[in-house]
Amino acid sequence: MSQLQLRSPWPYPAVVAHRGGGAMAPENTLAGFRAGIAHGYRAAECDVKLSADNVCFLLHDDAVDRTSNGQGLAAELSMASLAQLDGGAWKGAAFAGEALPTFANVAAYCQAQGMLLNVEIKPCPGREEETGRLVAQEAARLWAGAAVPPLLSSFSAEALRAAQHAEPALPRAWLVEEVPANWQAMLQEMDCIALHCDHSTLTREQATAIKAAGYQLLCYTVNELARAREIMGWGVDSVCTDRLDLLPAVR
Ligand code: G3P
Ligand code: MG
Repeated sequence: MSQLQLRSPWPYPAVVAHRGGGAMAPENTLAGFRAGIAHGYRAAECDVKLSADNVCFLLHDDAVDRTSNGQGLAAELSMASLAQLDGGAWKGAAFAGEALPTFANVAAYCQAQGMLLNVEIKPCPGREEETGRLVAQEAARLWAGAAVPPLLSSFSAEALRAAQHAEPALPRAWLVEEVPANWQAMLQEMDCIALHCDHSTLTREQATAIKAAGYQLLCYTVNELARAREIMGWGVDSVCTDRLDLLPAVR
């Protein structure tokens, strides 16, 4: 059996909540996921990287400064140190005390709520291979036996290849800011099921070609209803949004 046949599909709901709960709550926190559930979402995206002691946890930036009350590079902080930080107060007093969650925290919450997860592997610079490998192994462990596995994506081809090597059965998507000329060869080489692309650079012709080749297509970060409708008319399967109020209209 080929690797293509071994790898799982992913359902690609029409709308995916960006960084947990979009703009409704501090990004990449459980408060965000709670907001997504409250707004009727059944899928979310989040960013996962490694602490200094190789615990998978949620954070977008290389440093903790913007989205917590701490300072410094994630790659230099242990999970015990990261767990002391407030990841919510920067977004408003109502979110004070919100933790930077571990990947395991979020996996448990999503599975309890029936929420699908797109795990963006977001390596700290220089940690691409180990982040792809360890996030994929943790995802396979945390979702063992689940009906729908998590979807792994990354801008880093090195991280995605490491994930492919470690856990070939988990579905993968390649993230790009612009669709490159060699998109199809890259998707084939990394045995991806999808391309995830910045909506502002995507053309109708590219969307048509990607869909005709049999791939799923997700666009980020779509925060206007008219644009969501336009690109879905081109065949885009899912939009990743900060605007959780887009959901009912897109549906
Ligand atoms: O996965 C889609 C989107 O999250 C990629 O951009 O910078 O928000 O992680 P960013
Ligand atoms: Mg992301």
